[in-house]
Amino acid sequence: MARKIVFLGPPGAGKGTQAVRLAQELSVPHIATGDLLRSEVQSETELGMKAQGYMDRGELVPDELVVAMIRERLQKASGFVLDGFPRNLNQAQRLSSVTEVERAVHLSLSREEIVRRLSARRLCPQCGHVYNLQASPPQKNEICDLCNTKLVQRNDDRPEVIGHRVDIYTREIKPVLEFYQKQSVLREVAALGSVDSVYRAVKAAVN
Ligand code: AP5
Repeated sequence: MARKIVFLGPPGAGKGTQAVRLAQELSVPHIATGDLLRSEVQSETELGMKAQGYMDRGELVPDELVVAMIRERLQKASGFVLDGFPRNLNQAQRLSSVTEVERAVHLSLSREEIVRRLSARRLCPQCGHVYNLQASPPQKNEICDLCNTKLVQRNDDRPEVIGHRVDIYTREIKPVLEFYQKQSVLREVAALGSVDSVYRAVKAAVN
């Protein structure tokens, strides 16, 4: 089974949901650029302060900042599940100069379903667990099952920002898909269906 894997796909396609599970099963690190950037914002680091405006507007953080953030982690890793990177051709090319990619799994989902999923997403600010008020709600109203903390909504999950994120994704992703297609490592997975059924398709794609 491949051990150097990237997940591509629009906001809300389930990259994080699937990547966490796959990384656990493969015993490799799950490296999510969105999570790393949110943690920098929360800690009010220099990088976080530079990134916050871009993230709140649903725009991409400049490539050089994101590449610098993950380069070292990737150089050292004998395996990884990378989630949210690369987002454009420049990032894909920069990644290939740092490490090889054995599988690029592209999750696809309709715009309607993206909006539905993201509007209902909530996360725990304490432990990071992700819920969906429709598909996987917590037992108590908007309270984390794992640590009893009040759930929050991401700033960029507001309806007006979701549309902008999808537009940027659609504009940037085509050359990335072509880049991995040429290397014969691209695998397409339809992201509609239960988390378990999508995971089965993901497993088949990385085998
Ligand atoms: P990031 O955090 O990477 O956001 P994203 O790519 O927009 O993806 P999401 O996290 O919104 O969705 P996901 O596909 O992981 O879905 P999830 O599993 O949560 O990036 C945020 C921002 O950071 C960017 O806009 C940018 O500013 C910056 N950034 C990050 N990386 C960058 C980079 N490389 N370059 C530049 N800037 C960068 O699922 C969504 C919801 O659906 C959840 O509620 C989940 O429970 C639910 N769900 C999942 N699967 C299913 C299912 N099968 N059925 C029903 N519900 C489901």
